[in-house]
Amino acid sequence: MQQQTLFSGAQPTSGLHIGNYLGALRNWVALQYDYHALYTVVDLHALTSSATPQELTHNSRELVRNLLAIGIDPDTASIFIQSHIPEHAELAWIFNTLTPMAELERMTQYKDKSQRQSQNINVGLFDYPVLQAADILLYHGEIVPVGEDQLQHVELTRIIARKFNNKYGNYFPEPEAKITTAKRIMSLTDPAVKMSKSHGESNYIALNDTPDVIRKKIAKAVTDTGERTDTMSHGVENLFNLLTYTDATDAYESLHAAYQSGTLKYSELKAAVADSIIALLEPIQQRRQEISDDDITRALTQGYEHAQTLAQQTMQDVRQLVGFVPK
Ligand code: TYM
Repeated sequence: MQQQTLFSGAQPTSGLHIGNYLGALRNWVALQYDYHALYTVVDLHALTSSATPQELTHNSRELVRNLLAIGIDPDTASIFIQSHIPEHAELAWIFNTLTPMAELERMTQYKDKSQRQSQNINVGLFDYPVLQAADILLYHGEIVPVGEDQLQHVELTRIIARKFNNKYGNYFPEPEAKITTAKRIMSLTDPAVKMSKSHGESNYIALNDTPDVIRKKIAKAVTDTGERTDTMSHGVENLFNLLTYTDATDAYESLHAAYQSGTLKYSELKAAVADSIIALLEPIQQRRQEISDDDITRALTQGYEHAQTLAQQTMQDVRQLVGFVPK
């Protein structure tokens, strides 16, 4: 039986955090053998924020290093750079003409970013989800492993696929998001919002943070902000969740029992969370050291060749379906 196509992407910002890893990328690794999997470094998307050209180049290659370090196998899944395949931007343009403004105005990520980013609220930020739909549909992606914050974008992709199919004939699948229980890791400093690079260094644990930095950041994590009540605070819940997601089941059970009997010391909970994150990241950091620049280039060449063939085929079909005059 033919494998279903699985597609996902991540932005080349300055390194990944455990929200990215536990929320989505660990699932990319787990699913790569069960699907025809493609993973892209979305450098066109990253242009909507303000990295310098040097940072963009560096961060894109480092993201590939991280993908190899967490266990993406380039002989099984294709890893490629979005801008290497110009068809992404071409398909996004065609999708622009099918996407109602009102759908984009509803997008939470756009609303958040445009409120937070006082400068450079560019058209790309608004149009971001249309390019994301093009990413997925260019490869006829059916399954999209992401964190919860991306569900709205995948839903929009379904709407765009439907609009295209209604106008031009049934061509694109309507992809489905695939999330895990770790779908939303919260910020360490403000547990009411998701962990994110944009909330500052101390709200996230980076995949390459040293054990010392991890201990310090977890020690400072917000637990209870006021009087202790019957319901667990978001901060404490986030720490317990981190124990579960990092597979520290024994520690979870004993500390949770202590919490319920009112004898839990948060310093013990924090020490256990830090230990468990350090243990999770140690082998990844080890592998990261062993990945050479040549390994990165080799993975990208392989991924590009496969992705390019598929993208060109799709755009040939699409150009014909929308009525462009053949060359
Ligand atoms: P990005 O680069 O922000 O994040 C990469 C993945 O990490 C997930 N994630 C989280 N999961 C749980 N808790 C968190 N705190 C957390 N923070 C991030 C994200 O949900 C994502 O799955 N728009 C996408 C990139 C993209 C894409 C695509 C994804 C572009 N084209 C096509 C899928 C398909 C983004 O900015 O992800």
